[in-house]
Order: sequence, then structure tokens, then C-alpha cells
Amino acid sequence: MKTSKLPKVAVLGTGGTIAGSGASSTQYAGYRAAVTGVDELLMAIPPLKDVADLESEQVAQVASQNLGGATLLHLARRVNFWLNQTDCTGLVVTVGTNTLEETAYFLNLVVKSRKTVVVTGAMRPSTSLSADGPMNLYRAVVAAVSIQTVGLGVLVVMNDQIIAARDVHKMDTMTVDSFRAPVFGILGWVFDNQVRLYKRSARTHTCDTEFDVIDLNSLPRVDIVVGHQDDSGVAVSALVEAGAKGLVVAGAGSASLSEAMAEAVLSATRKGVVVVRAPRTATGIVMRNMEFDDALHGTVAGDTLSPAKARVLLALALAHGKQADEIQAAFDMY
Ligand code: SIN
Repeated sequence: MKTSKLPKVAVLGTGGTIAGSGASSTQYAGYRAAVTGVDELLMAIPPLKDVADLESEQVAQVASQNLGGATLLHLARRVNFWLNQTDCTGLVVTVGTNTLEETAYFLNLVVKSRKTVVVTGAMRPSTSLSADGPMNLYRAVVAAVSIQTVGLGVLVVMNDQIIAARDVHKMDTMTVDSFRAPVFGILGWVFDNQVRLYKRSARTHTCDTEFDVIDLNSLPRVDIVVGHQDDSGVAVSALVEAGAKGLVVAGAGSASLSEAMAEAVLSATRKGVVVVRAPRTATGIVMRNMEFDDALHGTVAGDTLSPAKARVLLALALAHGKQADEIQAAFDMY
């Protein structure tokens, strides 16, 4: 029988660049994401054996832009399964960074445990010089076993920083410091084996949300439309025609919409499609009835969520049968 005194951490792999492989250690162009198994990634980090007793599971092996609702729901169920094991202290999910924000925020809304869940990834493939994946994964496990991170909701650990899932934003296409929290700031750092925390997110998460994915096998279709000068609104009408149940419109400034777009949105909400306004800008709040008449158009103001995260919350709310007014309440809470 194994008699480890180390805390148990489950590491779930889903693919991405952290599991990527390239022909050259000095060039990123042309590498393939989602090649190396999570077991192999862990074996490449020998010091982890002194931090935690690791279990691993390959939940998916994809480039993250291909993650669909069914896979996300499966991932959430596996996270909840592992965290329900009494001997499991915490959990790490390795993901592709392209949509890390969405996966982390999704888990933040549906994980039913106060145990620590850390999402991490890498900007450089595992075969590159100075690959960032091994240290990110090491730091993620350190954060997952720390008593300090319990009950903080899903956390992202990238480039030594601890960031709340709701606040994290991918700011750069290439650099290893791409992940930041431009509006609300990071929660803390992991340096060596120490977690240093300075704040917590005030928004409701994990056990305290109304979202339970146990019986869900798919998520309703929600699309994002980016507004622009002289927008015709045709994209909105086409997506409604194509069967979208919800739309996020990323409007200019405070999510203002052109007259034509506003007309298309009104027609969509009259057909029962829930439309959320989110900012096209990198940061900022979209307030109800500010620069746009939400009451008249039946729309929802997206608060500070990016369009990608607004899409996640809208899909979950629709999957739980919520109407526009309840969805507005969800955006005000989560
Ligand atoms: C992906 O998101 O799957 C590929 C890119 C990355 O992980 O950085």
C-alpha cells in the first residue's frame, strides 16, 4: 500500500500548447498543439514528486479553440468527480491558452467544491527552449495544495501570477506574460514553493452559483457578433436564422450599437433570443440602459465580462432555462 504524506492533486489534461510539440526548439511557427499526454508532462517535472501525490487524467487532447460545450461539460463533471474524493486536496487543469479565459470562467461557475482548482497552460510548446509550461504546471500544483487558496474560486496560475478566473484576460498573442487582470489586478504570486495572496474576488462562484451541470450534455448555441461603424446588423439576423439561442454583441464604447444593429437586435429579442451587450474595448463596464435602451430592446448589460466570458455565462444561464431578466441578475452577480 502507498503511504504518501503528500497531499493528493489530480491533474486533468485537455491539450493546448503546453502539450505542444515543434520540429525546432527555437521556432514556434508550425508547432502542433495537443500532442503530449498529461502523464508525460508531469514526468518531465521531477520536483513535483516533493510537492504532491499526483493523479492524472487525459480528459481531452485538443487545441482549445475546438473545445465545445459537450467537452466542457465532461471536463466539469470530471473535476467535480475528483474533488468529491475525500483524499483529493486540489486539482489542476492544463488547457490551451487561446481560450483559457473561457474554460477557467466556465469552471468557476460550475465546480461544486471549495477545494482549489487551478487552470494553467503555456505560451511556448513543450519542445521549445525556455518552455514556460513546466514551471507553470509546477506552480499550479503548488497553488493547488496551498491552504491559502481554498474557497477562492477557480484560479489561473501563469507566469508566477495567481489570477481569478473571472478577471483573467489574455492580452498578447505570443508573450509568456500574456495573462493579466487589467481591471481588477492579480490576486497574488507563486514564487518557489510559496503562495503569496493579497486579495480575493468578490463575485459569486463555484458552490454558491445556481449552475449544476450534472444532467447537462450540451449547451445552447450562443454566438458573438462584433459591432463596428455603420454596422448593418445582418450578422445578427443571420445568426438568429441559423438557430442561435443567445447572442453576445460586442459593441463600440459602452457597447453602443448602430441603428441598424439595434433594429436587428430588437427583432432577435422579440423572437426569444437573449442578447447580451458586452464591450468591444479591452476593458470596462457595460451598464444597463447606458448609451443604449436595454429596457426597450429587451437586452442584457454584460457588466465587466469580456464577450468571450459573457458567452459562457449566457450559455449556462440559457441551459438552466433562465429568461432575460434572470440573466441580467446573473450578470450582475457572477
Ligand atoms: C491552444 O489554445 O490550444 C493553443 C494555443 C496555446 O495553448 O497557447
